[in-house]
Amino acid sequence: MIQKMLDKPWGVTDELRRLIVLPYIRLLFAANGIAWGCGWRVFGAPIIQRHRRSVILLGDRLDLRSWPSSNPLAPNHPVVLATRTASAIIRIGQDCGLTGATVVAASSVELGDRVLVGANAVIVDTDFHPLSPAERRADLSAARTSPIRIDDDVFIGMYSLILKGVHIGAGSVVGAGSVVSRAVPPGVVVAGNPARIVRQVC
Ligand SMILES: CC(C)(COP(=O)(O)OP(=O)(O)OC[C@H]1O[C@@H](n2cnc3c(N)ncnc32)[C@H](O)[C@@H]1OP(=O)(O)O)[C@@H](O)C(=O)NCCC(=O)NCCS
Repeated sequence: MIQKMLDKPWGVTDELRRLIVLPYIRLLFAANGIAWGCGWRVFGAPIIQRHRRSVILLGDRLDLRSWPSSNPLAPNHPVVLATRTASAIIRIGQDCGLTGATVVAASSVELGDRVLVGANAVIVDTDFHPLSPAERRADLSAARTSPIRIDDDVFIGMYSLILKGVHIGAGSVVGAGSVVSRAVPPGVVVAGNPARIVRQVC
């Protein structure tokens, strides 16, 4: 334990900061109507924009990293959790970790257990705006939305984009910087833009 602290002194600093701001962070979640789970480790305040009639449910032992110093990939913004409609749902299972990740649900975004979301990845179930100019002029917010489901043990690489309607099967891996716009079966590695299967997970 002591050796670990001597080897990685920045971890000690971050842990102290985490404990100092813990009351504020707990207040932030409470003010947003999000129940605090067991064993959470929250490094820095996330950005939370919860539609007051929507649901955000976060599982136990969640690890959220928003401070740049909280991860060597130095997230370039805090974790974002945003629900945009009364019926929107964000549900994150147990033992998940997100670093500077953005999760936006107009419909639903569900992560299973032990899902890891790498630095600055974005998971968004809506296009935000309609595609045709006429529809945009009529209603800028009338975007297409489609639920996202990310199954247990998925690992999403840094700077990836997960777009509307995507289902990622259990144990699959999304390569860094990928754009995932189609379903991913379980147990594979996908990469690229648009993401394609590059191999099986060993
Ligand atoms: C571009 C976009 C609007 C297209 O949506 P769509 O018409 O529903 O497109 P589809 O999901 O049917 O995909 C059509 C094809 O384009 C590919 N594709 C879709 N979006 C892509 C993207 N962003 N990058 C690369 N390929 C993409 C799909 O894989 C599919 O190819 P395939 O049939 O060979 O698999 C949408 O995918 C997107 O990028 N949405 C995010 C918009 C955004 O940034 N909003 C925030 C603005 S504030």
